[in-house]
Amino acid sequence: MKRTIVAMPGDGIGKIVLPEAIRVLDAAGFDADYVNGDIGWDFWCSEGNALPQRTIDLLAEHKVGLFGAITSKPKNKAASELAPELQGKGYTYYSPIVTMRQHFDLDICIRPCKSFTGNPLNFIRRAADGGVEEPMVDTVIFRQNTECLYCGVEWTNPPKNVRDALDSHPRMKAFANVPGEDLAVSTRIFTRNACRRIVRAAFEHAKKFGYKSVTICEKPNVIRETSGMMEAEAAIIAKEYPGIALWSTNIDAQMMWLTKNPEDYGVLVAGNMFGDIVSDGFAGLVGGLGFACSANLGREVAVFEPTHGSAPKYETLDPSIVNPIAMILSGCMMLDHLGETAKADRIRAAIAAVVAEGKVRCYDMLKLTGGADVFSKGAATTQQMTDAIIAKM
Ligand code: NAI
Ligand code: MG
Repeated sequence: MKRTIVAMPGDGIGKIVLPEAIRVLDAAGFDADYVNGDIGWDFWCSEGNALPQRTIDLLAEHKVGLFGAITSKPKNKAASELAPELQGKGYTYYSPIVTMRQHFDLDICIRPCKSFTGNPLNFIRRAADGGVEEPMVDTVIFRQNTECLYCGVEWTNPPKNVRDALDSHPRMKAFANVPGEDLAVSTRIFTRNACRRIVRAAFEHAKKFGYKSVTICEKPNVIRETSGMMEAEAAIIAKEYPGIALWSTNIDAQMMWLTKNPEDYGVLVAGNMFGDIVSDGFAGLVGGLGFACSANLGREVAVFEPTHGSAPKYETLDPSIVNPIAMILSGCMMLDHLGETAKADRIRAAIAAVVAEGKVRCYDMLKLTGGADVFSKGAATTQQMTDAIIAKM
């Protein structure tokens, strides 16, 4: 069956890297139609909605989205850039990514962080004998994508009924004398169902791809209710996977250990906030934003995107300097999701070969400061990187 993919370039370099990923998918023989989905800042400015209903309809119809990146700006900037005829009419800017995740309940976020041999951006450490070690990292982070501190239930100066409810907790005594306007509250909400879904998805992944451990990375000794619920559910689910060890780490300790023994961690599970943090940490070990890909999976709809943003400062550089690998790897995750694993593996092998050969490197891989002059220092253009990957295939 020929698939239809909703291609949502978004803003800035999203518009540059998404077409590059599609070029590679085509070259791998992935037979699909792409329909364009409007998303991002331009649509906020012209329509007062960064995620127009027509894009939601396309995703609901076709179920699979490939997404570049969007730009978002602070409240006052958002208001002032709105089209004059829309100003003062009660439009509020909402992040289209958060809206998309919530609308389709894309509750499972997967962020693989795998080293490519020969990547100059790979993490290295001092060995006991004084030499240098380069551990190969292969960690897949499962981040709960819809709850936790990102659920948006928050107040500065909470209304009276909320304040009264909070005051019924003995620990609120510490804040009894704080005036409402000086009190900000962001709630950390976990549900048992979502905990079960993310933990089960992680164990299934470990089983399917042969990872030996699943680590729950939370903070249950302090944040007892929410982190505690995740841990308790993990202990129950782990029993169904006898060959896979269940480990537990605290987020703070995990951030230290990933700079010491990152190769020890296979699949890692965390809530939304800690998952955001720990996945950036691991991404930094394997090349950073030019290499960090992700999947957002719901029960029906799935959206694949690099974790980088729109990098506005590079959007107008022509030729473009940004690394398309994160976007291309996100396309591979889409292929995996659609059961086209052989094509995904072929693309990943081509990327590995280009990185290992080291002839074609974008500016980030050469550790250069971004700018138009990077080509004179040996950096490849975005398109040259894509061409090299396609040539290897
Ligand atoms: P960013 O990820 O856009 O860029 C940060 C820096 O990382 C860039 O200046 C560049 O040095 C590097 N970088 C990013 N992508 C790269 C690539 N493919 N190759 C090589 N280097 C790359 O984050 P920033 O500057 O904080 O935010 C810019 C805009 O993007 C903001 O409006 C922000 O709200 C938005 N954003 C959107 C995200 C998304 O669409 N998922 C995620 C993060 C930020
Ligand atoms: Mg992040």
